[in-house]
Amino acid sequence: MSSNAALEIRRKSAVARGAAGKSVYVARAENAELWDVEGKRYIDMTVGIGVNNTGHRHPKVIAAVEAQLRDFTHTCFHVGPFEGYVRLCERLNAMVDTGAENRTLLVTTGAEAVENAVKIARAATGRYGVISFGGGFHGRTSMGMALTGKVAPYKRGFGPGPAGIFHAPFPNGYHGVSVDEALRGLDNVLHADIAPEEVAALLIEPVQGEGGFNVTPPEFLQALRKLADDHGIVLILDEVQAGMARTGRMLAVEHSGIKPDLVTMAKGLGGGFPIAAVTGRADIMDEPSGGGLGGTYAGNPLAVAAANAVLDVIADEGLMARASAIGATIRARLEKIAATNAGAGIGNIRGLGAMIAMELVSDRDSHAPDAGLATRIVAEAEKRGLLLLTCGTRYNVVRMLPPLTMPDAILSEALDILDQSVTAAVGSA
Ligand SMILES: Cc1ncc(COP(=O)(O)O)c(C=O)c1O
Repeated sequence: MSSNAALEIRRKSAVARGAAGKSVYVARAENAELWDVEGKRYIDMTVGIGVNNTGHRHPKVIAAVEAQLRDFTHTCFHVGPFEGYVRLCERLNAMVDTGAENRTLLVTTGAEAVENAVKIARAATGRYGVISFGGGFHGRTSMGMALTGKVAPYKRGFGPGPAGIFHAPFPNGYHGVSVDEALRGLDNVLHADIAPEEVAALLIEPVQGEGGFNVTPPEFLQALRKLADDHGIVLILDEVQAGMARTGRMLAVEHSGIKPDLVTMAKGLGGGFPIAAVTGRADIMDEPSGGGLGGTYAGNPLAVAAANAVLDVIADEGLMARASAIGATIRARLEKIAATNAGAGIGNIRGLGAMIAMELVSDRDSHAPDAGLATRIVAEAEKRGLLLLTCGTRYNVVRMLPPLTMPDAILSEALDILDQSVTAAVGSA
C-alpha cells in the first residue's frame, strides 16, 4: 500500500503539472463514499465533477457494463454498428424536448459534444459565428477553451483559439448584471462584433458550472430563444454539468419553459463511463454529411451500456425528485449556517436541485470575493472526510454535487461536517 504523500511525489515527477487537482489517491468507491489508499473514508460531494449522479459503481450500471464486456468492447460505430447505440439515441431523442423530431450523435467527452454541436450548427446555417457567455465553461479543447468565459486556468497562456467566437455578458444579479443589462451587452455584440445573420449559434449553460453555479434566469433564456428565432440562429444548451436529473429535472433547461434546438450532455449520462451526446432537431442534426461526425471511440459499447442503465436507474429510483429533496435539505442547512457568526462569509446560496453552492465573500455589502475562505472550507472538510470542490471565476464558490442516490444518513453526516468546516475555516483566517 502506498501513501497519498508518496504518490504525490511520484505524480510530481511523472504527471504534467497542468493535470493538477486534489491529493486524495482513491483506492475504491461505493455510492456516496470513497476510500483513499491510506484507508481513510470520505463522503463524496464531487462525484468526479458531477459524473456519478447515480453514485459510484451503481450495481445496475456495473451489471450492464459487465454483460457488455462479455459480448464485445469496441467495434467503432462507423465500422460495426450495434443496437445499444441506436437505443440510447432513441431514448435521448424522446427525452429532449425541442418541439420537433430529434436525432442524436454520441461522442466521448463534454468538450467533444460542444465542438460537434458547433460544427453541426455551422453546417446547418452556413454561418461561422458563435456567441457564448462570460463565466461559461465548455471544455479544454481549442474550441471549448475559446467558447469558455473563464480566463484562469483555462485560457491563459494557451493562445487565441479558433476564430468566430464572441462573448456576451452573463446576467449575474448578485454581481450587479441584470437580465436587461446582459441583453444590452448581447445586442452590443451584434452591433459591434458580428451581424446576427452571420451567427450560427448561441451557446449557454442553463446553470453555469465552473463559472460559479450561476442559474441562468429563465427570462434570459426566453429572450435568447426569441433572438434565435428572429435571426435563424441555433440555440445550444450545454447540459454537460447541469443535465441528467442533477437539477430536479432531466435537463436543467426544462425549468425555463423554452425549447432548445440542440443540447449537449455528458458527465451524468455515463454514470462513470466516458460518453457524451448531442441531441437536437433532426433538420439541424442531419445537415452534416455522412462521415463528417463521429470518431473511433465515439459511443463506446461499454459506455453506451452504462448510459442505457443510467437512464433506467434515474427513472426507477425517482432520482429527479430525489435531487430536489437533497437540494432542499442542503439549502436549508446552508441558510442556517449563514445565519451564524461563522457563516458571515457566506454571501450567497444558490443553485437548482442538487447542484448547489455558496459564494464566500469578505464583505456582504460589496460582495468582495473571499477565495481564501472557500479554499480553507474545502481543506477543513477534507480533513474531516468530506470531499468538496470550489468554482467561480474568482474561485470563491464552494459547490456541492452529491450523488442523487446519497442516503439521508450520509447526507446529514456530510452537512454536519460542512457546518464544522465553515466554523473551523473562519476561525483559522
Ligand atoms: C458545462 C460544461 N461543458 C463542457 C464541459 C467539458 O466536459 P469534458 O471535461 O468532459 O470535456 C464541462 C466540464 O466540466 C462542463 O461543465
